[in-house]
Amino acid sequence: MPIFVDSSDLSELRDCVAMGLCAGVTTNPLIISREAPGVDLRARILDIIEITRVPVSVELTTETEKEMIEEARGYRAWNPEHIVIKVPMSEIGLRVVRTLEAGGTPVNVTCMMSFGQMYLAAHAGATYVSLFSGRIKDMGYEPAPIIEKTRAAIEREGFKAKIIVGSIRHLADVNDALSAGAHIVTVPPAILKKMCWNPRTVETIREFNDAWKNRKK
Ligand code: E4P
Repeated sequence: MPIFVDSSDLSELRDCVAMGLCAGVTTNPLIISREAPGVDLRARILDIIEITRVPVSVELTTETEKEMIEEARGYRAWNPEHIVIKVPMSEIGLRVVRTLEAGGTPVNVTCMMSFGQMYLAAHAGATYVSLFSGRIKDMGYEPAPIIEKTRAAIEREGFKAKIIVGSIRHLADVNDALSAGAHIVTVPPAILKKMCWNPRTVETIREFNDAWKNRKK
């Protein structure tokens, strides 16, 4: 089960790579504006690729079909081997998905909140379909049934799409996404670090190491 990292923070990404926890990177305009305001986007994305050597999702911010295709082609030219184009879900977005995928550009359809959207994105030929767990929970319903139905539809119909679950806010969101059938979870570094930690583990390691230091010689 690949874990992607939902961040553009270079130091956090280095840590995740060192722990073997970075099979992909997802960014979005909000993440980059918060973590690296004023940054040159091209330079930042190329730095991320240099550190991680994995697929890196870069999101479109234009809103007409023509602009979106041009924006996508510009990003892909930076590094065709690693750049995945994140296309926000919409009617225009689906047209853009078809054009880009037909030309060999992998697309991650993003900002999705429902089974209907996930199904249409997979049907359009997207490589990745991204469901936003935390934002769905903010609206008062559960992402797990959407993940289960999408996974079943992908298997049944032979779509190539992989389900990414993002908008992860708590450890339990990761566990729930994985057990509901997500192919991939994209997790902020702070939550990945929390996943390593358990007070009983820390206490047990302390007990073992103290016993070794204090053994009779
Ligand atoms: C996923 O690809 C998105 O970058 C991300 O998880 C968005 O979630 P959030 O804005 O709710 O944190």
